[in-house]
Amino acid sequence: MVWRGYIAEAKIPDRVVLFDTTLRDGEQTPGVALTPEDKLKIARQLDALGVPVLEAGFPATSRGEEEAIRLIVREGLNAEIAALSRCLKEDIEKAASTGAGRIHLFIATSDIHLNKKLQISRDEAVRRAVESIDLAKSYGMKIEFSAEDATRTSIDFLVEFYRRVEEAGASTVDIPDTVGVATPFAMREIVKRVCEALRIPVAVHCHNDMGLAVANTLAGIEGGAAEAHVTVNGLGERAGNASLEEVAVSLKVLYGVETGLKFKEIYNTCRLVSLITGIAIPVNKPIVGENAFSHESGIHTHGIIASPETYEPIDPGFVGARRRLVAGKHAGVHGISAQLEEMGYRLSEEELKQVLKIVKDIGDKGKKVTDAELASIAESVIGYGVGEKDRIELEELLVVTGLNTTPTATIKIRRGEQAWRGAEFGVGPIDASMKAVSRLLGDLVKIKLESFRLEAITGGTDALAEVTVRVSDDEGRSVTAKGFSEDIVLAGVYAILNGANRLLQIRKRAVR
Ligand code: KIV
Ligand code: ZN
Repeated sequence: MVWRGYIAEAKIPDRVVLFDTTLRDGEQTPGVALTPEDKLKIARQLDALGVPVLEAGFPATSRGEEEAIRLIVREGLNAEIAALSRCLKEDIEKAASTGAGRIHLFIATSDIHLNKKLQISRDEAVRRAVESIDLAKSYGMKIEFSAEDATRTSIDFLVEFYRRVEEAGASTVDIPDTVGVATPFAMREIVKRVCEALRIPVAVHCHNDMGLAVANTLAGIEGGAAEAHVTVNGLGERAGNASLEEVAVSLKVLYGVETGLKFKEIYNTCRLVSLITGIAIPVNKPIVGENAFSHESGIHTHGIIASPETYEPIDPGFVGARRRLVAGKHAGVHGISAQLEEMGYRLSEEELKQVLKIVKDIGDKGKKVTDAELASIAESVIGYGVGEKDRIELEELLVVTGLNTTPTATIKIRRGEQAWRGAEFGVGPIDASMKAVSRLLGDLVKIKLESFRLEAITGGTDALAEVTVRVSDDEGRSVTAKGFSEDIVLAGVYAILNGANRLLQIRKRAVR
């Protein structure tokens, strides 16, 4: 296949290490603050997902942060635990005291950061980096070193800096695109240059300021990176980091690269992180958004029913998610039929068309139909399983209402060859209609209206009304039924007729 053929040309490793920084960079998402217990819960789930390296926090920032890392270390997870540290003695000592096996040291290397933030020379940055590595080594920690703002650093200096870091004893170097300004092409080239100069593994850490974090991460891997920094749901500073689920699934599905993740845990992990952090997952988020495996348009649902691979790049079950067929204005008969069949309803072609018309009317008013609503619509249309010739249908309805007049309803109903017509007064048009229809039905089934509830599904004066009634017969049976129409009187009459049809159906079964 062409799309796989192109990928096969990229030089990529068989396996990539995922360095998850949800609990550190992810926690830097504005508005997110996690307690040590919150962090522990997320860490356990990341471990269950199979994340190999987990950056648990930045111990120098607070006591709570230190405590959280200790708590996670004590949990004895399979994942290797990392702690972030500036190139400062106090930071390194604190990181070492948490018991984390890996220290993630960083210092800025771009002229912007060196001149404007740190106000130190390039040489001084190298000196501090080497000195910090020496100190971290004395604690027996594995060292990952990031040159902050690497992508805005002169490439020659960056390569030289990483050489010195490797010489000093770092076991991995990381290339952060700190403000998300790299392009995939640039990232691939930077990583290539660094890889050519070093023997130790190279990682990439991409921010999403331009929406390129995942693309840049994949490009970095194409350039030779063996590790990717990621966060669940793409949480992180400003626009966030490369999302774990998008990177991992792309690597597996598009490149055939292993990460060791248990993919079925992805959906649960993302939902848990969203719940604990309070950051909602956008509906259109790849892999785990509500719409990621939802199909609405008739063409797509038809394709999905024929063969899911027509419109799904992966099986939703692969990441622990579920497919949804959504009833909306783009829906088609196939999708609606499949959705109803899944709920146990089998409708004729004619009935499906009627359901589809109601669904599209609702859709045209900007609303979606939930599964429960679709079931009610279907039930109201099929008359609760009554065969066409036995079904009581409304043939005519005329209501008169207004000021200084008595509301009157004239109704004609039909069942097969037989028809009944009659009129009634009431306190309003609905009351008059209900009385008229109840009287006419008396010949077939004596019904009593127990309750009547009117709701507008959509907004505005042209809203689609849903009437829910509870009706009982003279033998003590009682059923709930619904009716839909843009005319509230009609919706009420349909509901009561649906109730009558349902009662007749139940009686017929009881007689047999
Ligand atoms: O984005 C960044 O530069 C970082 C560093 C701490 C590695 O998160
Ligand atoms: Zn970052």
